[in-house]
This record gives sequence, C-alpha cells and structure tokens, in this order.
Amino acid sequence: MKLEFIVPITINNTAHPLPDDPRTSLLDFLRRDCGLTGTKKGCDHGQCGACTVIVNGQRINSCLSLAVMHDGDSVTTIEGLGTPDAPSPMQKAFLEHDGFQCGYCTPGQICSATAMLQEIANNMPSDASESLDGPIKPTPEEIRERMSGNLCRCGAYANIIAAISEVAEGDAA
Ligand code: FES
Ligand code: FES
Repeated sequence: MKLEFIVPITINNTAHPLPDDPRTSLLDFLRRDCGLTGTKKGCDHGQCGACTVIVNGQRINSCLSLAVMHDGDSVTTIEGLGTPDAPSPMQKAFLEHDGFQCGYCTPGQICSATAMLQEIANNMPSDASESLDGPIKPTPEEIRERMSGNLCRCGAYANIIAAISEVAEGDAA
C-alpha cells in the first residue's frame, strides 16, 4: 500500500511539519521552529503589524494566529518575497526610498504593502475609498488608510508611502 505524504504547512514553498504544542502562535513557529526570524515580534497582541505575513495571498498578524490553524495553508514571509540579490519590487522600493530607520517594522510593512496592493487591484474597498464599486486608485490617502495597522516607531511614514506609491504606479503602468 502506498502511503500518501500530507503537507501540513507550506512556508516560502517549503513544507514544514506543524508544531507539537497546539498553543504555538504562527509567529513563534516561524521564528523559533523554522528559523525565519525576518518576521518580527513587536507587541505580540495584534497592535503593531510587525509580525505581518501573507497566508494564501492575504496579510495577517501572525501573533494572533495559532500555527495549527494553518494546516494546508501557504505562508509567505519576508524571506520568501525576495533575496538581497533578487529583491521583490517592494523590497527594492523600500531600499531606494529609505522606507525605514531601525528596520524593525520593515518586514511587516513590506509584507503588508505587497498584499495590500493586491487588495486594491481586486477592488476591495477601504474606509478611504470614494466608491464601493471601484475601480480603486492607490492614492496616498488609500495607502495610508490600508497601512494603518503597521506602526513605525521611527516615523518613517513619508518614505514608506513614497516606496509603496512607486510600486503601485509601476503596477498600474
Ligand atoms: S507583534 Fe503581531 S501585531 Fe504586533
Ligand atoms: S523603521 Fe524603526 S520602527 Fe519602523
């Protein structure tokens, strides 16, 4: 009899077994068990966005989610978006616009911004959208509203918006 291998969770295109302890948050699982320390722990209470990762195309706060809830899911962390030699367009834009100072919030900002632009492309309205029917434009107001869950203690917001806007304009071109 052929035994089928079940993939519990896929992280950056690599299969990982789920943790034995069901109390493990997705954030702790990524950092402690998978060695993916790019995802940061800020508040551990869903208030800062430093732990943002992309699960099945949607951004979530990994500190608010248990790893075992993601059986079969596909998770992308900052390490999965690009590398120093081959950065993603958003990673490149953050570098070019100095979209950070200490950098602690940056992985969460970049993961959040990457998934956020897809939300706009899919015409998912926000509180700042003029119409519920779309099309939605990635204006600075729209980007600010949608990125309001990602805090930056260094206050690099102006450069973060500039970086995201550049990628949004490139996507729209
Ligand atoms: S560490 Fe998850 S929101 Fe702050
Ligand atoms: S760059 Fe320091 S917290 Fe954002």
